[in-house]
Amino acid sequence: MSYDSSMPTPATHRPTAPAPPQPTAGPQPAADPREAARQRLIVALDVPDAGAASVLLDRLDDTCSWFKVGLELFIAAGPAVLDPILRRGHRIFLDLKLHDIPNTVAGAVRSAASLGVDMLTLHAAGGPAVLSAAREALAGTSHPPELLAVTVLTSLDAAQLGAIGIGRSPADQVELLARMGLAAGIRGFVCSPQEVGALRALTGPTGTLVIPGIRPAGGSLGDQKRIATPAQALQMGASFLVVGRPITQAPDPAKAAEAILEEMAAVL
Ligand code: C5P
Repeated sequence: MSYDSSMPTPATHRPTAPAPPQPTAGPQPAADPREAARQRLIVALDVPDAGAASVLLDRLDDTCSWFKVGLELFIAAGPAVLDPILRRGHRIFLDLKLHDIPNTVAGAVRSAASLGVDMLTLHAAGGPAVLSAAREALAGTSHPPELLAVTVLTSLDAAQLGAIGIGRSPADQVELLARMGLAAGIRGFVCSPQEVGALRALTGPTGTLVIPGIRPAGGSLGDQKRIATPAQALQMGASFLVVGRPITQAPDPAKAAEAILEEMAAVL
């Protein structure tokens, strides 16, 4: 089952677009499965500088419409790196994984909201007061991004969680943090393919679930362990797929993206 038809219809975010009443970046229903797939594939621009980002954008401009900018590129190139992506008409997932006291996170969220991005991450482990402050910080902003809470980093296994004083299993900790996030009014989460089914059950059809760790069938795993194919992730309830190296390090990134879109479209 896919969640395309039951997802909310957001306004398309562009720098000049009027603000939607509710911040949601959920996929837009599209009659054409290929277009529906395009609107749900996010390419991770995990590159060291604006020049490398620009090379990739040139190659993917006609194929993809969402790009993730994370800490590596954002710290190296600054907020200005977002402008050419927006000018090309694309949407941006700004993956900064904010984690600080409520007042500081609220300020960072307001700053990010002024950049024209459509999704922004923060750590659920900051606690309910941080999540509420982040949500409240968006009130009155003209272009509110959808807030996505990161629950448990996939690099934290039971031993690593134990080392920071958490005795629960990663799965139980994910569920605890997701419930806390929902209670604080957060509707979007980043999670691994392993957790998407459980989180979909918690959020219902209107939650936005963004899933990294995607590998096309037969592709190289890299350092990802909890993986799913594009079709599997959609069938388990993913709203968006985040794909990095299988596209960005392919000899022909556009061709690699096309193959993934085809696999997604087949189940939409
Ligand atoms: O290259 P690859 O497809 O593995 O890239 C996945 C992207 O998703 C990277 O930007 C990575 O930082 C991010 N990510 C992840 N696992 C998480 C959260 C984010 O792989 N749990």
